[in-house]
Amino acid sequence: METYQYNKSKELFQRAAKVIPGGVYGHQGPANGCFIPKEAFPFFSDHAEGAYFWDVDGNRFIDYMCAYGPNILGYNDPDVDHAAMEQAKRGNCTVAPSSVMIDFAEELVNTVAMADWAFFAKNGGDVTSLAIMTARAATNRKKTILVRGNYHGVAPWTQGLGCGGVLAEELSNNLYVDWNDYDQVESLVKKYPGEIACFMSTPYWHGNFVENQLPEREYWQKIRKLCTENGIVLAIDDVRCGFRLDMEGSDHYFGFKADLMCFCKALANGWNVSALCGAEKLRNAVNDVFFTGSYWMSAIPFAAGIATLRKMKKLGGPVMLMEYGKRLTTELVKLAASRGFELIVSGAPSMWYMRIADDPSLMLHQRWIAECVKRGVYFTNHHNHFVNYSMREKEFNFTLEVADEALKAVKA
Ligand SMILES: Cc1ncc(COP(=O)(O)O)c(C=O)c1O
Repeated sequence: METYQYNKSKELFQRAAKVIPGGVYGHQGPANGCFIPKEAFPFFSDHAEGAYFWDVDGNRFIDYMCAYGPNILGYNDPDVDHAAMEQAKRGNCTVAPSSVMIDFAEELVNTVAMADWAFFAKNGGDVTSLAIMTARAATNRKKTILVRGNYHGVAPWTQGLGCGGVLAEELSNNLYVDWNDYDQVESLVKKYPGEIACFMSTPYWHGNFVENQLPEREYWQKIRKLCTENGIVLAIDDVRCGFRLDMEGSDHYFGFKADLMCFCKALANGWNVSALCGAEKLRNAVNDVFFTGSYWMSAIPFAAGIATLRKMKKLGGPVMLMEYGKRLTTELVKLAASRGFELIVSGAPSMWYMRIADDPSLMLHQRWIAECVKRGVYFTNHHNHFVNYSMREKEFNFTLEVADEALKAVKA
């Protein structure tokens, strides 16, 4: 099996670095810890279809990052893109919003178990910030309890002290707990009576560089009860897990009911829209928050979102994704064992995390991932992966073939 070359990617990166700070910034750029060694990864995409994207050098990859989540049905899904194009003919960014916004809100309210209303924005970080502001407006309190290591976007309140441009004041109302530690949450609630507006967390712990952890038994039920008894808004950041665990929301999957739910990534199969869904009791509070943006009521993503939700439901929801992920990771673990490696898999199968054991420097794992990428299976180091509905037997078999070649290369 030939390994890929990235000459054009490298050339383009030089060009980009002259006019774009960092060349490619953020998590999709080579400065990020996900791309080690940099030489193994393409920097620019040329086109995409279904489970695959092709880079500017003509190399084809199965994309197990699914564009970091948005690609849930497959790139260029014909039904979603047809709905988007039909809407484009009628209008997109217009002075009064299209009524397709109502259709989309209705679709979400009818899909997500806890939702009585939906408020749209563009990115996941827009709606996590809106959730915090809504909780403050509803409770007239300042503080938020957050789980250490959770990612909620890039607004200053989500970052750490010492990060560029972040002030201590912007973090002064954050309180942090460890994941799955109910007692820590309870003791903060006792320490700050009447001061905590919100408890915000992802539905399970899917941080980077850590084994992903599902909630312990009764964790969410106890948190729900604590929040209800103390007038604290329970906000779930479902930006990454949304519709990959349960069409009705990840709170539904884990057997509780959130007050606010943040959605983005899988919501419209790559068309840019995010949503905050909320319970009736917070309708007035969200209405009190001034929050909007130039493109937030664009109609094309709403039409795409409706088509995406409907198609996912028609396909039976994330069961298929879970099954594919479970089957694939079971085989990857077996394959690794047959080559003398222990592969540890964690998190939900539809967005699994993996690492090679006994690898304190992380070099072994990174080399294996690099060898996979250079043969056309786009995994990433130290971040969870994603499955989408267009991955079938052909992709499954090719992935195992490449993973084995890569293991052999590492062994050699
Ligand atoms: C759990 C979670 N919350 C929030 C965000 C921020 O979303 P966005 O990058 O769309 O602002 C992300 C993005 O990866 C995420 O995974």
